[in-house]
Amino acid sequence: MRAAILYEPGQPLELADDVKLGATGPGEVRVQVAACGICHSDLSIIQGHFPLMGPTIPGHEAAGVVSEVGAGVDHVSVGDHVILTPAPSCGHCRACRRGRFSHCYLGDGLMTSTFDDGTTRLERNGEVVYRGLGMAGWAEEVIVVRQAAIPIPKDIPLDVACVIGCAVQTGTGAALNTASIEPGDSVLVVGAGGIGVSIAAGASIAGASRIIVSDPSESRRERAMSFGATHVVDPTSDDVPAVVDALTGGGVDTAFEAVGSAALAEQCLDSTVNGGEVILVGAAPMDGFINVQSVAMMFSGKSLSGCVLGSCWAPRDIPRIVELWQSGQLPLDEMVTARRPLAEVNDAVRQAEAGVGLRTVLMMD
Ligand SMILES: NC(=O)c1ccc[n+]([C@@H]2O[C@H](COP(=O)([O-])OP(=O)(O)OC[C@H]3O[C@@H](n4cnc5c(N)ncnc54)[C@H](O)[C@@H]3O)[C@@H](O)[C@H]2O)c1
Ligand SMILES: [Zn+2]
Ligand SMILES: [Zn+2]
Repeated sequence: MRAAILYEPGQPLELADDVKLGATGPGEVRVQVAACGICHSDLSIIQGHFPLMGPTIPGHEAAGVVSEVGAGVDHVSVGDHVILTPAPSCGHCRACRRGRFSHCYLGDGLMTSTFDDGTTRLERNGEVVYRGLGMAGWAEEVIVVRQAAIPIPKDIPLDVACVIGCAVQTGTGAALNTASIEPGDSVLVVGAGGIGVSIAAGASIAGASRIIVSDPSESRRERAMSFGATHVVDPTSDDVPAVVDALTGGGVDTAFEAVGSAALAEQCLDSTVNGGEVILVGAAPMDGFINVQSVAMMFSGKSLSGCVLGSCWAPRDIPRIVELWQSGQLPLDEMVTARRPLAEVNDAVRQAEAGVGLRTVLMMD
């Protein structure tokens, strides 16, 4: 099959047409990928910020059509349309029993780039190829554990639906699941990429009345307004905590870091009211550390939490997000600003790095 392979961080991806995808095992689903988005986490892998096993096929935000089901799979059949989640959950491990679905051991593939048994089912020229962030979606076909394939109605366009897999689960989930936003609350979102605008949309659905979005890109600030932002800030000309303080009288109830920077996590803490919460959504480089004065943190009563994939439980949250999109509360069609054939992957990656548009989706046919 065709796939885009990263052999060396910092180098262009190689477009191969001779990648071998192995047999579909018990409890697994084989999917003909229709579309897969480009997330900043893919860019971080390509740039070498997150050292992964290589060579690797990036892509973890995919939707497609089921082409084969392994033994014991009964929730989808051949021909079904599915959105794939990069953080599947088994439903019965310790994390799942506590409702911490995005921390299920099945999601370990995000970091190991393998299935739970250490294999990848992928090879080229006799060499093992790894599964990017647990999916290898920049390819014509993927194999995923059954819990990663969530069926959706067939009339939903797959080139938009794919962004639900990562950006929208992560962003709306961070607002609706991880945070405890109440109607009338004020929110700061630092970073208005696919993740940040999804957070803004989620905060709006949760009833936040003031949603302040900070991004140096004017076009992204403008786009954020259609996703629920009520105020936008340019961090290159404005002191973000000062603007937030003036707008809210003391800071927001919830601040989200959606860029991937430890310094911006500190900016979020500085912009939050006493008793408020800071949610880390961005994935900062490995050498990023947050400097927090212990006693100030104690007196302020602020909380600082991370989240993987918006603390989502895909069988609940993906259908819920689809409903919100269909009912006009999530403008997902506006999120996909470019569709490029897989053959143009390197150009598409460069444009994503430059912040062109909002979300670019790679089309596999
Ligand atoms: N926690 C998770 O499960 C999870 C899931 C997906 C993505 N992520 C991470 O979320 C982050 C965002 O991903 P994305 O795909 O939306 O990225 P993106 O590149 O599309 O967007 C990032 C935005 O941050 C803006 N930005 C840069 N510097 C800024 C500053 N100083 N202040 C405010 N904004 C600034 C950029 O202009 C850009 O619009 C990345 O770190 C990504 O790895 C985390
Ligand atoms: Zn992602
Ligand atoms: Zn589990």
